[in-house]
Amino acid sequence: MAALAAVAAARRRVMVKIRYVDQDGSEHVVEAAPGISLMEAAVKNGVASIEGECGGACACATCHVYIPAEWQALTGAASEDEQMMLEFGIEVDERSRLGCQIAVTPAMDGMTVLTPRSQR
Ligand code: FES
Repeated sequence: MAALAAVAAARRRVMVKIRYVDQDGSEHVVEAAPGISLMEAAVKNGVASIEGECGGACACATCHVYIPAEWQALTGAASEDEQMMLEFGIEVDERSRLGCQIAVTPAMDGMTVLTPRSQR
């Protein structure tokens, strides 16, 4: 029993806070385990503006997010497949990424992710 409590405590320590902000200004701060995607963290925590319809297969673009410039170094660059899928997105700009293609890392603690107006 003590071992289970220790494992649970260790998991809580490594949870990463991600702040999702919709274009109407509403915010959802969620706790995400490192390794899951920004899409999974949003869907599991009820962020309605991110659907993740294809389950993370880079095939729907319903997980389109904007990564503010100050956080882009942590998310890396989009792959060729991701860039191709973003071409089908709406309101795509230089901050655009697919949330399913970005794995949460501990360094992202406190990161803000914006969602497009079209995904309300
Ligand atoms: Fe479908 Fe990201 S969940 S492209």
